[in-house]
Amino acid sequence: MKKTVSSLKAMKQKEKIVMITAYDALFANLFRDADILLVGDSLNMSFGGAKDTLSASLEQMIYHTKAVCNGAPDTFVVCDMPFGTYTDEQIALQNCIKVYQETNAGAVKIEGGVEKAHIIKALTTNSIAVMGHIGLMPQFVRSEGGYKIKGKDEANIAKLILDAKAIEEAGAFAIVIEGVKPEAAKAITQAVQIPTIGIGAGSDTDGQVLVWSDMFGLNTEFKPKFVRTYLDGATLFQNGLKEYMKNVKDGSFPDENEVY
Ligand code: KIV
Repeated sequence: MKKTVSSLKAMKQKEKIVMITAYDALFANLFRDADILLVGDSLNMSFGGAKDTLSASLEQMIYHTKAVCNGAPDTFVVCDMPFGTYTDEQIALQNCIKVYQETNAGAVKIEGGVEKAHIIKALTTNSIAVMGHIGLMPQFVRSEGGYKIKGKDEANIAKLILDAKAIEEAGAFAIVIEGVKPEAAKAITQAVQIPTIGIGAGSDTDGQVLVWSDMFGLNTEFKPKFVRTYLDGATLFQNGLKEYMKNVKDGSFPDENEVY
């Protein structure tokens, strides 16, 4: 059965939430059994080849979210709001309404803590479901001078808890916690009533998310410590291509059964 905001919230402390990224209809369909499909702006890096997520546009995210919703109509889909599309309440409302009107996404995701709570509130009070995102926030890579692991000391853990509580108070239904020490993720998870979904944050969150091309071994140049590789996708595809090339070159493809 398709998950909803309330059924996802009810999973906290009962069943771990499985979220995986998806960017197109083909793979969304293959991943349709996950609890949540995230159309992450990570697509700008993993599939667009860019060095960060900042140049992802709203139009791109809408295009990919539509495709994912088409491929997995019975799975809950979250559209990542790209950099610069939620700088104030009015802009965020305008852009998130566009996402809701043009796609079947069940929610949007927004990076930021206390400072973004008023924006989350403006969205949730206008019937837009919001997933928060705290800790290492890829859209802050340039302002922070790199991807920095968070929650390394008591003061920072306290700040992250304040962020999570502000997001919860603003009406978000879940929070992604990225790139934080496991003890910080645990403390945040215990401090809020809504589910937390971790990436590089240890096992004490209410769910996990990974970027699909990382976990299925397609990205041979990027292998962070937190990623478990479930498949040697690169080798599978490269072997497939090798075989196809061989068959075309030697004339064995197509054969008499592969023609009209
Ligand atoms: O863009 C993305 O894929 C994300 C996940 C890594 C959480 O934000």
